[in-house]
Amino acid sequence: MAKRPIGPSKGKLGVLLPGMGAVSSTFIAGVELAKRGLARPLGSLTQLQTIRLGKRYEDRSPLIKDFVPLAGLSDLAFGGWDIFEDSMWDAALKAGVLGEHQLAPVKKELDAVVPMPAVFDQAYVRNLTPRQWKKGATKMHLADQLSKDIEVFKKSSGADRVVMVWCGSTEVSLEQSAVHESVEALEKGLKASSSEIPPSMIYAYAAARAGIPYANGAPNLSGDVPAIVELAEKNGSPIAGKDFKTGQTMMKTVVAPALKARMLGLNGWYSTNILGNRDGEVLDDPGSFKTKEKSKMSVLDACLDAKRYPELYGDYFHKVRIDYYPPRGDAKEGWDNIDIAGWCDMPMQIKINFLCRDSILAAPLVLDLALFLDFAKRAGMKGIQEWLSFYFKSPQARPDLSPEHDLSVQHLKMTNTLRLLMGEEVIDHSGLDYYEPALGTPVAAPAPRPYVKERRKARA
Ligand SMILES: NC(=O)c1ccc[n+]([C@@H]2O[C@H](COP(=O)([O-])OP(=O)(O)OC[C@H]3O[C@@H](n4cnc5c(N)ncnc54)[C@H](O)[C@@H]3O)[C@@H](O)[C@H]2O)c1
Repeated sequence: MAKRPIGPSKGKLGVLLPGMGAVSSTFIAGVELAKRGLARPLGSLTQLQTIRLGKRYEDRSPLIKDFVPLAGLSDLAFGGWDIFEDSMWDAALKAGVLGEHQLAPVKKELDAVVPMPAVFDQAYVRNLTPRQWKKGATKMHLADQLSKDIEVFKKSSGADRVVMVWCGSTEVSLEQSAVHESVEALEKGLKASSSEIPPSMIYAYAAARAGIPYANGAPNLSGDVPAIVELAEKNGSPIAGKDFKTGQTMMKTVVAPALKARMLGLNGWYSTNILGNRDGEVLDDPGSFKTKEKSKMSVLDACLDAKRYPELYGDYFHKVRIDYYPPRGDAKEGWDNIDIAGWCDMPMQIKINFLCRDSILAAPLVLDLALFLDFAKRAGMKGIQEWLSFYFKSPQARPDLSPEHDLSVQHLKMTNTLRLLMGEEVIDHSGLDYYEPALGTPVAAPAPRPYVKERRKARA
C-alpha cells in the first residue's frame, strides 16, 4: 500500500471551540502548561502513544506524533465562542478543575483567549441564561456571522488552517427530519429559521461550508445529519462525532465486549452518576438529559450484539442516571452495578466505582481530535471519519453501517488507518503469519534479531 500524499503541517493551526467552559479551558490550560514542561499531557495518544509497525521482531514502534505529520503544541492558536464573556482564565477558575496555583504560570495566555459572542437560543439549552449572543434576521445570517468570525480569527491569530471542536452544552433532544436531509433543504431551513436547526448545527454548517474539519463533543444532532455530511464531502471537511467517550461509557465499552467475548450472560446494568459542574446543571433539564441518555444507552446493545445473541443479551435491564450534585463540581462519581450470569446460569456481580474528573478525561480528547482532524484534512479525507470512533460515545458512521463501540476495536481501527495512510502494513494480530509460511507474509525472523544484536553490542 503506497503512502498517501499528505500536506505538510506548516504554520499555525487555529483550534476554534464553540463552548468555552470546563472542558475547553482545561484543554487550553493543559496545552499551555505542557508546552512549558509544567504538566504532562496524560490521556493524549497524539502526545504519548507509540504505534507498532511491521513484524513483532522488527521492534519498530515510533511515537504516533513522529510517525504521522501532526501539528505541534507550539503551533496551536485558540479561539471560540460562548454565551459568557469569561476569558479562559476566569472560566478555568470558575470550573475549578485545576487549582489557581496550577494555572498561575499560564495566566497571561489564558487571559488572552476571550470567547466571541455565541450563536445561542435558550429553547435548546434551557438551564443557561446567556450574556452575549449574536442577533440576526435568520439562522443563515447567524451562520454568515460565524464565517466572518472565523476569518477575523485567522487574521488576528495568524492561523493558516483551522479546526472546530464543539465543546458547548448538550442541547435538547432532536430527531432527524426533512430539513436535515440535504444541503438544499438545510439551507432553505436556515433561511426560514427552522426550529429543527439547533445552534450547534449552525456551527457545523459554517465549518463544513468553509471546508473546516468539525468534531462534535456533545450528543447534539449537530453534524450528524445527511445535509452536513453532504456539505462536508463536497467541501473537503472531515467530520466526526458525537459525544466524547470519557468516563462511565468508556468503561462500558471495555467491560461489555469482555462479557461478550467470554459468552457470559447479562441480566442488568445499572449506571448512575453524580456531577456538579455547569454540564451537570444543563443535564438537569430533562430535554438535555434525554439527548445524553440516548447517547449513553446506545453502546451496550451494540457492544453485546444483542440481536445476534438474544438468549444472552436479549432481555437485560439497562438504566442510566445522572444527578446534578453541586458539591462535587467537576469531580464526577460514577457507579455501575452489573448483574451477570455464568455456567449453569449462576448469578455474579461486577461493581465499578469510577471517581473521575470529567474535564481531565475530556481535554486530551479535544487535543487529539483537533490534531487528527487537521491531519485528515491534509491527507485529503472528507466527510465522516469513522476511524475516530475511538473518541465518541455515539460514533458517526455511514447510515448503512452499524457503528463500532468496542474500545479496543476502535483503537485498532484508528491505528490501522494511520498505518494505511502512511503506507505501512495493516496489523491483524492473528499471528499466524509467524508460524505458517503459506500465509504469504515473511515468516522467518531476520537473523540476528534486533534484541540479540543489542545484547551482543552491550556485551562487547
Ligand atoms: N467532560 C466530559 O467528560 C464530557 C464527556 C462527554 C461529553 N461532554 C460534553 O462536552 C460539553 C462541554 O462540557 P463542559 O463540562 O465543558 O461543559 P460546560 O458547561 O462547562 O461548558 C459548556 C459551555 O458551552 C457554552 N455554550 C452553550 N451553548 C452554546 C452555544 N450555542 N454556543 C457557544 N457556547 C455555548 C456554555 O455557556 C458553557 O460555557 C458538554 O456538552 C458535555 O456534555 C463532556
